[in-house]
Amino acid sequence: MKGNVAGVLLGYDWQSRRAEGLRTGWLMARYMRCGCIRLLPGLVRLDEAIGTVRKYDYYMSNIAVYPAWRGKRVGGALMFHAEAVARQRGLRSISLDVEVQNAGAINWYNRLGFRVARETVVALGGRSFRFYRMSMPLK
Ligand SMILES: CC(C)(COP(=O)(O)OP(=O)(O)OC[C@H]1O[C@@H](n2cnc3c(N)ncnc32)[C@H](O)[C@@H]1OP(=O)(O)O)[C@@H](O)C(=O)NCCC(=O)NCCS
Repeated sequence: MKGNVAGVLLGYDWQSRRAEGLRTGWLMARYMRCGCIRLLPGLVRLDEAIGTVRKYDYYMSNIAVYPAWRGKRVGGALMFHAEAVARQRGLRSISLDVEVQNAGAINWYNRLGFRVARETVVALGGRSFRFYRMSMPLK
């Protein structure tokens, strides 16, 4: 906004995810070395539980707007762009995973047309994390 970064959205389809997944694994192994090996089982579990991308899905991995810009339609504009990209690629829905405690974001997604498809619990580092998988069909 006016030359400043106001927010970010990271999204991809299953083909990009497969390509980037290999590259991410390689970069982690290169920069984290032993630390990466220790974290690996947990990361694999997390990856299997959330973040799966179906062939007709556009998966929204992250969306965030800087606090100063929230409520000014930046998130809405990012989402509108994601929908346009997904349609252009012939995809049928947008999906995401959100922590169940993130009531603000869940309300926001509901208002945009997303609905909870399932709940997932992931154990990581002695803690458990609960996520909703939410999806919105593209008309
Ligand atoms: C969720 C988020 C991306 C929304 O972006 P935003 O730019 O603030 O949203 P918009 O301005 O486009 O939203 C427009 C409408 O949603 C409402 N809204 C925005 N954030 C909301 C929230 N947290 N809870 C309830 N309503 C919200 C606004 O009041 C506005 O309502 P209106 O149409 O009646 O005026 C932003 O609040 C954010 O970055 N949150 C923290 C990061 C996060 O939780 N990301 C999701 C992780 S899965």
